[in-house]
Amino acid sequence: MPLPEGFLEELKQRSDITEIASEYVNLKRRGRNMVGLCPFHGEKTPSFNIYTENGSFYCFGCGAGGDVITFIMKAENLDYIDAVKYLAQRVGMNMPEDSYDDSMSQLRKRIYEANREAARFYFKTLCSPEGAEGLAYLRGRALSDKTIRRFGLGFADSNRHSLCNHLRSLGFKNTELVSANLAYQNNNSVSDRFNNRVMFPIIDLRGNVIAFGGRIMTDEKPKYLNTSDTPVFKKSSNLFSLNNAKDSGEKSLILCEGYMDVIAVNQAGFANAVATLGTALTPEQALLMKRYADEVIICYDSDEAGQKATARAITLLRNAGVLVRVITIPEGKDPDEFLRNRGNAGHDAFKNVIEGSGNDVDYRIAKLKKNYNLEQAEGRVGYLNEVVKILASLDNSIERDIYISKISKEMNVTPDALRQQISKISRHDIYERRKNEFREIQRNLNGRDDKVNTDRFSKPRVTTAEEALISYLIKNPDKLGFIMSQVDENKFQSEFNRKLFLYFRERIKNGYEPLSQVSADFTQEETAKIFKLANSHTTRFATDNTVREYINVLNDEYIKLKTKDIENASMDDINEQLRRLRNSHS
Ligand code: CTP
Ligand code: MN
Repeated sequence: MPLPEGFLEELKQRSDITEIASEYVNLKRRGRNMVGLCPFHGEKTPSFNIYTENGSFYCFGCGAGGDVITFIMKAENLDYIDAVKYLAQRVGMNMPEDSYDDSMSQLRKRIYEANREAARFYFKTLCSPEGAEGLAYLRGRALSDKTIRRFGLGFADSNRHSLCNHLRSLGFKNTELVSANLAYQNNNSVSDRFNNRVMFPIIDLRGNVIAFGGRIMTDEKPKYLNTSDTPVFKKSSNLFSLNNAKDSGEKSLILCEGYMDVIAVNQAGFANAVATLGTALTPEQALLMKRYADEVIICYDSDEAGQKATARAITLLRNAGVLVRVITIPEGKDPDEFLRNRGNAGHDAFKNVIEGSGNDVDYRIAKLKKNYNLEQAEGRVGYLNEVVKILASLDNSIERDIYISKISKEMNVTPDALRQQISKISRHDIYERRKNEFREIQRNLNGRDDKVNTDRFSKPRVTTAEEALISYLIKNPDKLGFIMSQVDENKFQSEFNRKLFLYFRERIKNGYEPLSQVSADFTQEETAKIFKLANSHTTRFATDNTVREYINVLNDEYIKLKTKDIENASMDDINEQLRRLRNSHS
């Protein structure tokens, strides 16, 4: 059941998209629109547009688009109903009762509740005789009771049913426990997913327990078992301990590799540590960090895997637009090992390491240096050629100049020589980057990878005309009668556009605003596509004559289509086609 039209219209009227998006993006006015750097992908030149006229957004870089509800769905990682609830709460409107399908939202609520109860249960177990082994393990890893409580650590005992039994006694159903990934179906019964592990709850920014990581206390494999993706958890878009880091009052985040590192760093007095959840850093996580920090300090292990991960993280974080620093922990240790035997001295020692850390440029140059023999001319040339490439990639000319003077002194070459080489490379780089940006936007604009309208590729001409016509219809609902007198849905050759035509025709006939239910009735990709159409320039100043042109293309292509099939057509078909052909030429 859909939400009532009136409710949605009021909600949208009261939820100003510019105001809401401004909480995530710096927006500047450009003509009648607002533009900014897209919050949904990393970019250096703004292609994210807000159209105040119809309360929608579209990014030409990544193709994200929709209305204010879609925006919240994407920005806050919510599904449709929860995004509506979020906005309703924001503007102080009550949700209409029983008028929408709430089952997914209800399930999610149950999963949050089950997770919270599970965290309580694991914590209680840890503090009980059954958890003695777990508590000893955590204490053995130098965690204080205060830290254990702060992170709500727990213990899953070896009984394969204790959590399930407990949660069922609280009224949870097996299906809910399986959906939460707290249990798995095992023939006819369900069993706990986590056994004999110390448990790390993962908490989102609203304070919900969304998942767990569980560490085995021996050398057995797998070392960690994590909650798989569930209706409330996507590991690629969350970070461990971001809930703590957000409130730390720091403008920087310390990005660690694992749970134990984050906890140890926290215990040493740095609440701004976070970690990914058992996967490499994703662009989504980089953008998420950018929302809470100006600077990210990468603090990965110094082994080879850690260094590879560092290089990758530098690129992603730079692209997301944050400053990057890299910590190298002395003696090849991870932060947890570094802090473990230091006790109260840990704070200052770690602070020293942070303060002694360079930014990502220092880090990359230092790493480079190890590969060359600077005693020999050949090595020096090789090294400098690579350094120059790094410096050419810097957007900030002050930053670049500082390095030029540093390197020129260190290597005994003139700043001018470096500068010349840099400008050669950066001209080329900028040229390539611009070309790539252009290609991406072009691809997006002409729908080369159109996944929503899969007919575009084989029928580009008619698809484009169909879109122009639909776009015109959305902006000029009063022209429905005229359009209907000229074409019907059969003339639409791409399935998606035919569906859109019928959809908007129906809404307009019923007197509804064409776009207000789109985000409810279509998938996110489809919604983006529709708002791209609704905001396209080509139809802004379309006249009746240009619209006739679109209609002619549809009719024209329709006849072509039919004449192609004439070999196998029935007599009736041929008569019908003859009639159409004659009409179209009269
Ligand atoms: N990880 C995982 N599954 C594994 C191994 C690791 O999900 N089988 C993830 C965990 O999030 C872990 C992180 O990768 O925290 C880093 O792994 P590792 O450095 O091996 O673990 P630590 O966090 O350092 O844990 P410990 O110090 O207890 O070994
Ligand atoms: Mn470790």
